[in-house]
Amino acid sequence: MSDIKKIRDEYINKLNAELDIHGLNKIKTELFGKNGIIPNLFKKLGTIPSDEKKIFASDLNTVKDEIEEKINIKLQQIEIIEINSKLQNERVDVTLPERDINQGKIHPVSQVIDEISSIFSEIGFSVEEGPDVENEHFNFTALNTPDNHPARDMHDTFYLDNKKELLLRTHTSPVQIRTMLKSKPPFKIIAPGRTYRSDSDQTHSPMFHQVEGLHIDNDINMGHLKGCLNYFIKEFFEVNKIKMRFRPSHFPFTEPSAEVDIGYEVKDGKIVIGEGDKWLEILGCGMVHPNVLKNVKVNPDKYQGYAFGIGIDRLAMLKYGINDLRAFFETDYRWLNHFGFDPLDVPSNYRGLSR
Ligand code: PHE
Repeated sequence: MSDIKKIRDEYINKLNAELDIHGLNKIKTELFGKNGIIPNLFKKLGTIPSDEKKIFASDLNTVKDEIEEKINIKLQQIEIIEINSKLQNERVDVTLPERDINQGKIHPVSQVIDEISSIFSEIGFSVEEGPDVENEHFNFTALNTPDNHPARDMHDTFYLDNKKELLLRTHTSPVQIRTMLKSKPPFKIIAPGRTYRSDSDQTHSPMFHQVEGLHIDNDINMGHLKGCLNYFIKEFFEVNKIKMRFRPSHFPFTEPSAEVDIGYEVKDGKIVIGEGDKWLEILGCGMVHPNVLKNVKVNPDKYQGYAFGIGIDRLAMLKYGINDLRAFFETDYRWLNHFGFDPLDVPSNYRGLSR
């Protein structure tokens, strides 16, 4: 029996046996791989005397075709077996209970930022942003805050280097400077964001949120400031009447400066805004100091206007009856589930600000 016939019989036998895909691949490599039996036999052709060559080549080709076909048939069989066994083992159990659908919630602070942006956008304010890591110049110096001001103290401010040049911004007011440096007046912007101070108790957190407001034009006066804040507070708390009080105060970057309190009372353990004889401070404001305008190359003889800084977290606590500020930042999923908002229910002036 010739070599070719022997090899043929041996491998047809092997292919008739039970095989999985790995076994089949092994046989394929043995026969047709780089150094496989069939390629080697073809190489041998050159050394065979010419009278035998024709028969050898023809036998070899016949056997090669036969084995190839056999391998293809075997491959199809193996695939069918594997599919059947998968269908058997991976059957879907339609009696299992379905999985819960977990929808996330919008954090009250994010909700309130959206509400505030929506209210101010309605009266022509656009939204600006600035970095949390600020430099000393934008946070203090450009805002007319002298070197000896207590806010500059290590005790109040988180500095990021020993030279006290980089810090976590202590208010959103540096966005006033950034906005005025990058374009020309008039300016009418709000800037919500995170702010940081070395402070921590039930109503103070080292990280909290503010929204800055800035309106600069040729003849903006304190009446505009009052009207704007009055409109905002009424819209935000969704009331028709509001008691508001401007208390003289001091900020280096405004003159005159004021703090604004709103009137409230506690009825059946609930805070009611706009009535009663109790006062709650919610923001600082004033007319932008001429020095600040000079620092950003805006002519204070031609332009003037107001600025304000509102504590967002406090507004959120008041509006949604949350009494511990610290819970805002503890990332407790159960708390968020209770106080959070539907992500598909985006606040708007037309559809309503809150549920
Ligand atoms: N930046 C001040 C603060 O954080 C608030 C403020 C903003 C006051 C703008 C006046 C004008 O307390």
